[in-house]
Amino acid sequence: MYGQETDPDYPTKLAEFEARIARGEKIEPGDWMPERYRKQLVRMISQHAHSEVVGMLPEGAWITRAPNLRRKQVLLAKVQDEAGHGQYLYHAAETLGATREEMLQALLTGQAKYSSIFNYPTVTWSDMGAIGWLVDGAAIMNQTMLAQCSYGPYSRAMVRICAEEGFHKKQGQEMIIQYAQGTPEQKAMAQDSINRFWWPTLMMFGPHDSASTNSDELTRWGIKTKSNDQLRQEFVNELVPLLHALGLEVPDPDLRYDEESGNWISGEINWNEFWQVVKGNGPMNAARLQARQEAHDNGRWVREALAAYAERDV
Ligand code: 3HC
Repeated sequence: MYGQETDPDYPTKLAEFEARIARGEKIEPGDWMPERYRKQLVRMISQHAHSEVVGMLPEGAWITRAPNLRRKQVLLAKVQDEAGHGQYLYHAAETLGATREEMLQALLTGQAKYSSIFNYPTVTWSDMGAIGWLVDGAAIMNQTMLAQCSYGPYSRAMVRICAEEGFHKKQGQEMIIQYAQGTPEQKAMAQDSINRFWWPTLMMFGPHDSASTNSDELTRWGIKTKSNDQLRQEFVNELVPLLHALGLEVPDPDLRYDEESGNWISGEINWNEFWQVVKGNGPMNAARLQARQEAHDNGRWVREALAAYAERDV
């Protein structure tokens, strides 16, 4: 099922596997696949799942501080959705032989990554709008691409997740529009949120293609169908005109419009900041892992009760 390069029939099986992908077929659990394909998917899907679960924390902190019941209900629904997205994705990774325990231990020990964006603090209510519009908007671009992924369970999870992300993005955009058209204080609050989330959102798409260690293999096997820089450019092209239309600024003094390509060209991302955050030295990394560890510890009794129930004499 998981082909090793040392297998004598590896070249033939690999050619058949790659022909299936070229024909647009989905690879399903139990099909022959290169071990490297499996490993890449377990890495990517499990880290995606971690991102969904850790991503609940920045917004969860504001549920009790929502300005009205409607905003509280919407934020509650969004955070609950993210928990469900995490479950879909952990399960998709389990179809490749990863266990939930292994994946959670990799997260809790800091061995596994999750999206850098969730290591930034949420300091005002309008950060909920910036996360919904920018962060979920960026996630939708990435996940819409992944819905075309060659691995069936991941592709199908993405279709379901993207449907819910559409609501996440719209509720955030509605907030930023409302505050940008509100009082001067509300507009200033929205601008401050955009200023703090713009660059970390661009970092979500990953390093430049030239520095992307996994992209070649992921692209060869139809897991990625667009590059990190392509998706980042699509995001910038969509958001800049909309923010400008609201009278909001993009916090990039080097941003310029290129008539020939029709692209908004960003200034250079602070890659030192990016790698510091990825390596665990971001403003909220320690707090996020501590919160996840506490949740894991507090949930131990549930896991033990389920295990005991499963082993009961029937
Ligand atoms: N945060 C943390 N680590 C990152 C990163 C980021 N923003 N971008 C890249 N990295 C890591 C990669 O994981 C890789 O490290 P690894 O080999 O140890 O895993 C290294 O940096 C080199 O990057 P590559 O470009 O080679 O990595 P990929 O080809 O895997 O591309 C990716 C990175 C674009 C994040 C890709 O993994 C991907 O598309 N993942 C699936 C989608 C995902 O995880 N999205 C995260 C956000 S989910 C979300 O926002 C939920 C929403 O509901 C709010």
